[in-house]
Amino acid sequence: MIGTGYVGLTTGIGFASIGHRVACVDKDIKKISMLDVGKVPFYEPELSLKMKELQESGNIMFTSDLSNVIANADVLVVAVQTPPAVNGQADLSYIMKAADEIGRSLDHEALIVIKSTVPVGTTEKFIERVKTSLRNCGRDELADVIQIAFVPEFLREGTALSDFLRPDRIVLGAKDEVAFIILSKMHENINTKIIKTTIESAEIIKYAANAFLATKISFINEIANIAEITGGNIIDIVAGVGTDSRIGPKFLNAGIGYGGSCFPKDVSALKQIAGTNGYDFKLLSAVIETNNRQRDLFFKKILLTLRVLKGRRIGVWGLSFKPNTDDIRESAAIDLVQRLVAYGADVSVYDPKAMENSKKILPDSVVFCSTPIDAAEGVEALLVLTEWPEFKKVSFATMITRMVRPLIFDGRNCLIDMKLESSGFEYQGVGLCGLKK
Ligand code: UDX
Repeated sequence: MIGTGYVGLTTGIGFASIGHRVACVDKDIKKISMLDVGKVPFYEPELSLKMKELQESGNIMFTSDLSNVIANADVLVVAVQTPPAVNGQADLSYIMKAADEIGRSLDHEALIVIKSTVPVGTTEKFIERVKTSLRNCGRDELADVIQIAFVPEFLREGTALSDFLRPDRIVLGAKDEVAFIILSKMHENINTKIIKTTIESAEIIKYAANAFLATKISFINEIANIAEITGGNIIDIVAGVGTDSRIGPKFLNAGIGYGGSCFPKDVSALKQIAGTNGYDFKLLSAVIETNNRQRDLFFKKILLTLRVLKGRRIGVWGLSFKPNTDDIRESAAIDLVQRLVAYGADVSVYDPKAMENSKKILPDSVVFCSTPIDAAEGVEALLVLTEWPEFKKVSFATMITRMVRPLIFDGRNCLIDMKLESSGFEYQGVGLCGLKK
């Protein structure tokens, strides 16, 4: 397992838990030494326990010695990062460096599996890079037989390990029967639908799946905006639309839009891939624009209601890009906190898990509170921006005595069934009431 980020570590632990012997390797020595003592360097609830168990049984180990791992591997799984470059394209420098290193150390036939999300055609370029590196080391015969595959991951943060062990499907992208046999054997203890296809199709499947999910979210956000203007209620609308088996209720939660390390990156990468191949993927341009506009519309609601933000104290619940993670990458919540600060508001924030990560990027003027109630102390409005389940358990009777104005903007419609208006709160969600003209 080359790379121990969200995907690499989860996949390594996943393969070890279905009976394989796994060596996880990473250049980041600090990260490796944390893993070695059983510490997972990010919040992923299921991983730590499983990892300790597997380390005790000797099924998994962590090292920074790449050449040794390569020398002893039957299968090399590559899960290094492919972050977005400035122009939105995927930065492939890390993965190509891994190709050079594999070519330098590989001295036997091993199947190479790419798991990182990569533009169509990258897997082919990767194996060519490995072959060149092998030939430079005089291993021409190995270069002639080496096999590669692309097996996309569909892991969600917060449920990564269960997504690995109980996936809706496994997509195997390869060129020859031997590779498919090895891949099927590797995954034989996972009981799910196996889809065998070409490498190119597998690369597209990954982007298409994420882009479609993002499209679903932007679509329902547009419907929510129309509902606000025409007096509809998005919760009922979703119930009426999502019960169509061809649509399904999932990923139809309207709110302040999607964030995270995948959707924004993968949607813009797919748009770029289409563009560099001379195809203008118009729908994705609208998905991106709609997602960005969702934050603007939510902020506009706050401005229309409060008029002036300068010097006003505003409370914020939720900073992570979604619940059950400490990850704040591309978080809409962080974006909105930064806008509040830019408008001169005094901001108090609370998040169950993402406080440490947020302290690294939010300005010093932001007050980090240890409880949700503290973050509502003396505020003229409370913004709920990530739907952490614990927010429903707060005593709103206490809350209302601590707020200067009992005004709540719910960016995820997650408190709607608390019927807060009957407890004396002013409550505004997304797609729930007439948009102020
Ligand atoms: C996503 C894909 O789900 C996963 O299959 C892929 O491998 C990686 O990217 P992740 O980014 O961890 O996983 O989170 P996800 O649960 O998909 O949510 C992504 C964003 O969409 C979050 O910001 C979430 O708040 C938002 N979202 C999700 C909505 O706004 N509405 C919804 O109905 C669902």
